Amino acid sequence: MNDRRSEVIALIMAAGRGERAGLNGPKQYHPLCGKPVLAHAVDALAMTGLVDRMAVVIHVDDQAAYAQAIAGRVLAPAIIGGATRQQSVMNGLCALDAAEDSIVLIHDAARPFVPRAVIERLIGALDEADGAIPTLPVFDSLTENGRTVDRERLRRVQTPQAFRLGAILRAHHLAAGGATDDGSVARTAGLTVVEVEGDEALRKLTKLADVEWADRHLGSQMISRTGMGFDVHRFGDGDHLWLGGVKISHDRGLIGHSDADVALHALTDALLGAIGDGDIGTHFPPTDPQWRGASSDRFVEHACKLVKARGGVIDHVDVTLICEEPKIGPHRDAIRVRLAALLQLGASRISVKATTTERLGFTGRREGVAAQAVATLRLPENM
Ligand code: CTP
Ligand code: MG
Repeated sequence: MNDRRSEVIALIMAAGRGERAGLNGPKQYHPLCGKPVLAHAVDALAMTGLVDRMAVVIHVDDQAAYAQAIAGRVLAPAIIGGATRQQSVMNGLCALDAAEDSIVLIHDAARPFVPRAVIERLIGALDEADGAIPTLPVFDSLTENGRTVDRERLRRVQTPQAFRLGAILRAHHLAAGGATDDGSVARTAGLTVVEVEGDEALRKLTKLADVEWADRHLGSQMISRTGMGFDVHRFGDGDHLWLGGVKISHDRGLIGHSDADVALHALTDALLGAIGDGDIGTHFPPTDPQWRGASSDRFVEHACKLVKARGGVIDHVDVTLICEEPKIGPHRDAIRVRLAALLQLGASRISVKATTTERLGFTGRREGVAAQAVATLRLPENM
């Protein structure tokens, strides 16, 4: 087994430009289900529970994108990379302030999914070798200049690749600049490198089709969740009210501790319901004076943040307003636009409906407004 007294450091390479993917910017900052590729890689490594420290090597132009992508995560300060991957690895290794015998896992940010079992195999293999790399067999037939190549002898090489810091640093100092893979740098320097079984999930995102695959792969690991919310506020004196984040002139207002926006309160509860995290009162107690007169936008935004923190995506929301007055029809589009902005969703994923209760009950007697909401989310299966 691995000598657990050695520190395990993940060094994540994210200084490339992603030219072959042809996205709007480097692929490591491209969102997969709302979360940047790099953040997926960082979180996956952290989730293994086998990594003590992580450092990311980034491009000098990407500092703002990087800060945004890793917000809320604990990482060593970013290291600025070089013109080639190998130069970036060198910069990263040189910047690590760690013991010679620390284990360093050199990983591509462009491989967002990292199975724990591969990390276990890599670390375990360092008991008998200077380096360990994950590989997979080739199943397609291969040709070279029209001649068939024996695929049995060939392997696809993935990352992370594991080494002792001192040894891989010396190997990189000996190497010429163009290596795309640290295992070959290590072998060239005479280190022993063993192969452990890789994993299809470690596929590198190189072309646009790989990014599309990653989206589908992630989607297949998400489960759908539905939450519902309901709220009522009573009419009182006033000349306007708030519904769905839109101010509507009216000869009466709605009474409440906050701005009494029933639609946003129902929506907040629907979002919290879908992630099973209490209700609006749990997060914003009505007894707390700081929420007096507060804009209910904040409640929705907070619920969205909680969804995001769990790696979730909102697929759709459906809000129904129940009242005789005011008439909702003239405001429906404005409410949809406002909800789209609050939830950062396309308007096609937002439904706003209204109904009366045929003059029956409290809404029929024009005593107040009720609202219902349903939110449909996808969350990672393991949440
Ligand atoms: N990388 C790096 N520094 C470089 C080049 C690449 O840190 N100078 C990183 C990339 O960010 C990526 C990994 O090395 O995570 C693998 O490289 P590759 O897939 O080639 O990514 P890019 O260089 O970004 O893409 P492309 O070659 O298509 O421009
Ligand atoms: Mg490249």
